[in-house]
Amino acid sequence: MAIQRVASKWAKTQVLLQNQQVSPYIPLTQKYTRATLGNMLENTPLVYIKPDRGTYGNGVMNVQRHGEPDAPAGEQPAECSPHTGVEYTLRYGIRSETYANLDALHQAIHRHTRGKFYIIQQGIVTLKYEERQFDLRILTQRTPYRNWETTGIIGRVAAKDMIITNYHGGGSVRLLNELLEGNVSPEEAPHLERKLYELGVATAQQLQTKFPGIKEIGLDVAIDEQLNPWILEVNTLPAIFPFKKFFKDKSIYRRIERYAINYGRLPGRSKRRGSY
Ligand SMILES: Nc1ncnc2c1ncn2[C@@H]1O[C@H](COP(=O)(O)OP(=O)(O)O)[C@@H](O)[C@H]1O
Ligand SMILES: [Mg+2]
Repeated sequence: MAIQRVASKWAKTQVLLQNQQVSPYIPLTQKYTRATLGNMLENTPLVYIKPDRGTYGNGVMNVQRHGEPDAPAGEQPAECSPHTGVEYTLRYGIRSETYANLDALHQAIHRHTRGKFYIIQQGIVTLKYEERQFDLRILTQRTPYRNWETTGIIGRVAAKDMIITNYHGGGSVRLLNELLEGNVSPEEAPHLERKLYELGVATAQQLQTKFPGIKEIGLDVAIDEQLNPWILEVNTLPAIFPFKKFFKDKSIYRRIERYAINYGRLPGRSKRRGSY
């Protein structure tokens, strides 16, 4: 049977929210509209806006609110004008533009989205490595014993001043340990790592309830400054090559490859003549 792939970030998010073990790790996510833009920015100073079926970081934007949001109508102190001091910076690729009100901001976003299906998500202020934001890619695979196993985690560091960590957006790959050092105490690091491995497995199990043909997932997970992990998205066609090139310990990739061959993602190695 073909390996099932699910492109819609919205569909995957709805399934994950139904599981109590996973839902605490999902940032607030809504369909993008002018109204959800306003509501979200009232409650959180950073939001991400991304195409429902995007990949490689294409089309991803964020908005940073500067200053306190307007009080809801009717609760404004009389002497205070509605837009006192609030500004919004929209970032897209390496461009950044500032708007004085939500209508102007929405118009600018609309020039990119053109009314297509985008989601808006609470932005995570991630840990930094050399002043760059980073997140993690957790690879979880179906094993030949028909259970799920997290087989590798790599760190991905954004290029300077970029809002995405994707390789196609100039991001680079680092070892998890290297990224946690300086951010997490040596006592806490193993605890956090174990949590990430388990989060991969719980996420796969939950997705499988609605998408029974999935065999491998790649979670994009950000860690905030309080060391809470957040699932930014789950890929059902995760890249495998970064794991091949990256680890000195070749046994990690060999296992990833073995599982991937078993469920048919990678072609089997042709048997060498005469060998048993
Ligand atoms: N809610 C968020 N908070 C912080 N960073 C985010 C958020 N959503 C996305 N990002 C950044 O943008 C990148 C691309 O977003 P993602 O949802 O993974 O879309 P894609 O499918 O294009 O990879 C992420 O790897 C991360 O660096
Ligand atoms: Mg991604």
